[in-house]
Amino acid sequence: MRSPILVLGKYEIGDLIATGGMAAVYRARVAGPMGFEKPVAVKILLDDAAQDEDIVRMFIDEARLGARLSHPNIASVLDFGEADGRFYLAMEYVDGVSLSALLKHLQRGRNPRPLDARAALFIAQSVLRALSYAHDLKDANGHPLGIVHRDVSPHNILLDRSGAVKLCDFGIATGAHRVEKTQTGLVKGKAAFMSPEQAAGERLDARSDLYSLAVTLVAMLGGEPASEDPARGFDPGRVDALDCPEALKPVLRKALARKPSDRFQSAAEFSKALVEAGLDPGEAGRLALVEAVEKVPVPKPKSRKESRRGEDVRPAPPAGSDKGYRNLLLVVLGFLVVAVILALLGVRLPQGGDDPASGCADAVTSPGPDR
Ligand SMILES: Nc1ncnc2c1ncn2[C@@H]1O[C@H](COP(=O)(O)OP(=O)(O)OP(=O)(O)O)[C@@H](O)[C@H]1O
Ligand SMILES: [Mg+2]
Repeated sequence: MRSPILVLGKYEIGDLIATGGMAAVYRARVAGPMGFEKPVAVKILLDDAAQDEDIVRMFIDEARLGARLSHPNIASVLDFGEADGRFYLAMEYVDGVSLSALLKHLQRGRNPRPLDARAALFIAQSVLRALSYAHDLKDANGHPLGIVHRDVSPHNILLDRSGAVKLCDFGIATGAHRVEKTQTGLVKGKAAFMSPEQAAGERLDARSDLYSLAVTLVAMLGGEPASEDPARGFDPGRVDALDCPEALKPVLRKALARKPSDRFQSAAEFSKALVEAGLDPGEAGRLALVEAVEKVPVPKPKSRKESRRGEDVRPAPPAGSDKGYRNLLLVVLGFLVVAVILALLGVRLPQGGDDPASGCADAVTSPGPDR
């Protein structure tokens, strides 16, 4: 990492990774004694977004909920803070690419192609494990939290270069008690991956996330995710047209049923159906994924200017500037002390008195010698 452009709390913020809808994500590090250093990703709420109460609430929810989640297939939230009026979230740094970047890369160039089906199934199984964990999470009294991610889409699936898959951004996830629309009436989530009930702004449960994951799987296999009207559901013809293992098609049709009661009822059930259809690629899937991620060119770190522009991050104070301020303060104080002493001496000397107390009094009450 280059020298930091900003310091937020204990985080030295470096290169901009990407800017999303409401926040910018930066590479960052926490430095400690003896050369200790831990890379992290820091998400900073954009200035415009920070003016919107709904967004600030979602960002805080993401931090709160993220802090409760601990699973190998979920990018961990490490910290949340506010410094200089900026809200930020520190996360585990995933050294790789997002699934959306991988899919874009595969579509680019002269030979557009889908993701290797083994890698796609490996990603789907990993996300199902993450969802199964989050959906089943209970509070301290054993009551289900009713967590729904609500934005399962390629943007929010991060792929580590070693083949680890991490679902992130529980920013708009809700517990069962929360309404699906924000106060401004906005339905949150990426339209192309939304379940029909989400697109209609209805109350959601875990089955909506499973639908979104099935659309994501279709997108990985080269299918068109977008439906003109997500509220009408997924056209089964699109599944038939997919170039994928035949055994996967009935599983996808079930996962993409319009009515939640016709779908898999839990992530575990969805996962089991894939395994029973002989669609669990295991280690071969991970290796295929590593190979695919390796081919995505590493984006060049954004220039300093780009990193600061848009995100409007204020530059870090120059190194050692704290010390500089302290020294300046000491010089000013020293100067004042000398000035006071000189003033006192200036009053007392011509009088030649020995009594400092009387000198002081004179200094206050008597006119000066040259007046
Ligand atoms: N923990 C992380 N480690 C590494 N990169 C990350 C991490 N979290 C996010 N990113 C990168 O930052 C990008 C932007 O993330 P962000 O969540 O802000 O926006 P988004 O997912 O693209 O859109 P949205 O604002 O709708 O969520 C991601 O696509 C990913 O490339
Ligand atoms: Mg995101």
